[in-house]
Amino acid sequence: MNILRFGIVQYPKKLSMSEKVFNKYFQEINIDAVYEGININPSDFDFKIKDVLNNYYGLNITVPYKERIFKYLNAATDSAIFLSAINTIHKGIGYNTDWIGFYNSIINEDLNGDILVLGAGGAAKAILYGLYKIGIDRVKLINRTYERAIELKKLFNKKIKIEIEKYEKINTIINDVDIFINTTSLGMFNERLPVKLNEKLSLVYDVVYFHTPLQKKAESLGIKTINGKMMWYYQAVENLKIWNLFNEEKFLKIKL
Ligand code: ATR
Repeated sequence: MNILRFGIVQYPKKLSMSEKVFNKYFQEINIDAVYEGININPSDFDFKIKDVLNNYYGLNITVPYKERIFKYLNAATDSAIFLSAINTIHKGIGYNTDWIGFYNSIINEDLNGDILVLGAGGAAKAILYGLYKIGIDRVKLINRTYERAIELKKLFNKKIKIEIEKYEKINTIINDVDIFINTTSLGMFNERLPVKLNEKLSLVYDVVYFHTPLQKKAESLGIKTINGKMMWYYQAVENLKIWNLFNEEKFLKIKL
């Protein structure tokens, strides 16, 4: 049997969590498969992507191609179309599993109370969609660039009520909420978020998958924290299900 090829289409080149974890997992389930970083320069994308789509059994798509990939596919799921972002492909169909990763990482938590979301990029969009699917009908949103928050409010019009607050007011607003969700990558290089946590918070969710100053602070205050590894884990589970390769027991054995 031919080797099954998987990969992540990205630019610039980087070693993704997917590349490390999926290759270990393929060994664990004993299949002849490989997962590669596929680095495509933006000026080459249009003529290289068709070959990639033909030659790989399953793909992930990441920055900066999640939207640009649409026109090369036969179909996409409703959520991927709503989010204008595809991160997983199988047999010419595009999926968005980012929001499902968020959804499954938080679904068993107590989400009573007010929620503050920081950030208005791609991750924020997937997370707001996940919150909407959980049944949350109202959140506060803060972003450094106010206009991007307005774009999200327009997109989610009718799905979830978004109250936009000014970035400068973050340390007042945080005192009025119960749950804080950081969707920005701040903290990845040990940067501190300009936010002062307090012990009244019941949950801090951080999309960054390292142990950031935000998470350390939350833990020191006794606040439950969820780290981005959980979101990654559950979106990876979803990818494996789409590619018909999921084995829970074996996947749980892989250290993230
Ligand atoms: P992603 O897909 O990871 O969400 P993105 O679409 O580039 O990436 O969005 C990054 C988010 O992090 C944005 O909300 C961005 O704020 P702006 O819209 O103002 O750019 C936020 N962000 C990035 N660096 C930041 C910083 N130094 N301070 C505050 N917010 C920052």
